[in-house]
Amino acid sequence: MNVYFVTSNEGKFREAKEIGKRYEVNVEWIRREYLEPQGKDLEEIAKISAKLLANEIDKPFFLEDSGLFIQALNGFPGPYSSYVFKTIGNEGILKLMNGVEDRSAYFLAVIAFWDGEKVLTFKGKVEGKIAKEMRGDKGFGFDPIFEYNGKTFAEMGEEKNEVSHRRRALESFFEYLKSLK
Ligand code: IMP
Repeated sequence: MNVYFVTSNEGKFREAKEIGKRYEVNVEWIRREYLEPQGKDLEEIAKISAKLLANEIDKPFFLEDSGLFIQALNGFPGPYSSYVFKTIGNEGILKLMNGVEDRSAYFLAVIAFWDGEKVLTFKGKVEGKIAKEMRGDKGFGFDPIFEYNGKTFAEMGEEKNEVSHRRRALESFFEYLKSLK
């Protein structure tokens, strides 16, 4: 089965391509940016983005949207993760968390799949903690401050891809595609 992944991020595409092989799903790349509406709910944002794109793409495709949710900050930055990363970055998050005891946080990834008629969503979540300082140089985005089992994602490298929110969302999506055969 062929399915198209709409993303401008090559790393995301490669990861999906690799995982897809295990499910006999061939992931093709539509390399482009797309409009992401602002909103409070990651799933809603992904769904609306997919519906808008469906006007332009005439084959089954999916996109993926993720965010970091910090408990002590009531879920901030959540759906605003991209913007917050670009503006205050990891240093800014660490400042906001200065002296805060409860450091629990999670990453959530939502996949929105347009099957030609409707949008279906699949989620993946990974729980962890906000580190006290940045550690590691292997990842991207919030990886240096997100701790999973004592290591930050940026210290884990490839190991991260085995447990990441994106991996979990992709697996649930590919399981679904496989069940259609
Ligand atoms: P997007 O879904 O690629 O737009 O991601 C939103 C923001 O969350 C990005 O700016 C990244 O900085 C951050 N993010 C998403 N996934 C990860 C991850 O696996 N590690 C670290 N940061 C991430």
